[in-house]
Amino acid sequence: MDNDAVKQFAFKVWSYKMGEQVSLMIHLGDRLGLYRVLNGTGPMTSEAVAAETGLDERFVREWLLGQAASKLIERHDDGRFQLTEVQAAVLADEDGSLAFAAGAFRGGTDPGGVDALVESFRTGIGVTYEQQGTAAAAGLARMTGPWSRLALTSVILPALDGVVSKLESGATVIDIGCGAGVTATTIGATYPASRCIGYDPSAVAIELARERVAESGLDNVELVHAAAEALPADGSADLVLCFDCLHDMPRPDLALAAIRAAMADDGTLLIKDIRSTGDFDTDRKNPLLALFYGFSVASCLQSARSEPGGMGLGTLGLYPGKMQELVTEAGFGSFVEHDFDDAANLYYEARVA
Ligand SMILES: C[S@@+](CC[C@H](N)C(=O)[O-])C[C@H]1O[C@@H](n2cnc3c(N)ncnc32)[C@H](O)[C@@H]1O
Repeated sequence: MDNDAVKQFAFKVWSYKMGEQVSLMIHLGDRLGLYRVLNGTGPMTSEAVAAETGLDERFVREWLLGQAASKLIERHDDGRFQLTEVQAAVLADEDGSLAFAAGAFRGGTDPGGVDALVESFRTGIGVTYEQQGTAAAAGLARMTGPWSRLALTSVILPALDGVVSKLESGATVIDIGCGAGVTATTIGATYPASRCIGYDPSAVAIELARERVAESGLDNVELVHAAAEALPADGSADLVLCFDCLHDMPRPDLALAAIRAAMADDGTLLIKDIRSTGDFDTDRKNPLLALFYGFSVASCLQSARSEPGGMGLGTLGLYPGKMQELVTEAGFGSFVEHDFDDAANLYYEARVA
């Protein structure tokens, strides 16, 4: 046995344990408002951070030192701490930064949730998004929210053929797998002449979406607690959105067929799905590939195998070739891939003709 190799490999494994602990620290910083207090203020002492947040200085100091050790915030020679502009964009600026990530850190998985994952390996049947619970649905909304709130109406929809003018004059939009309703409320608020109907089979996600719609005061956003397969086949939708959800569905083929039947003949389907290639060795160029496989085993594949006979695509399973095959089989005649420089996702515009 090569002792150095063992030490190096042990270091790699403990680095993942460090990631678990640092993940918890990021959650605490987000939840307790510590990053927000440090945002744009210049260097601060631990006493000042504690005073601004109303928290205990000794705990705050330990957290700050840990954050500096993690290289997530700066520590100056005089002992003061600072969040740089770049660090703030990722850790503090939820309203204005596409790169905001701190909201995705949930502080761990509850033990019951871990037991359910163990059981899925034994039975082959996974856990639905509803069974993954409210905290998971809320965390997902904060993870995908920046792109839905900040890029959808300014960058993505304007790149599609003729869609914005329809939305401005009044269109029917369906948001499939709407989750906690961030996209649906963004559409409703930006295009008051249009109406947006969110569909999701997860009761906990629909409950969060209902709260968001009520808070927004919008009267052009509706929510339906149902899967895509239950869409009315009435050819009424001008725009259908499928954001980060087709690979989670047990039967994305049936969902796409129902979406086609719900769409007007001149309607547009906009799909956002994970950036992958279908080839593991090529995907390995993604330095965060293991994170995506973690998402898959813990969440996406769970949902995609939550029914017997589920296709089980999982997080990385809907690469462009597979997507085009499914979309074409569902009766769509045109298929265009868009790359909006979203590190995690590709976008696809499909039309019937
Ligand atoms: C990863 S979340 C994405 C939520 C949201 N679109 C977003 O971008 O944040 C996937 C969602 O798809 C939903 N879903 C799963 N199967 C579905 C189906 N057959 N029809 C519609 N939605 C489905 C889940 O309940 C979950 O809310």
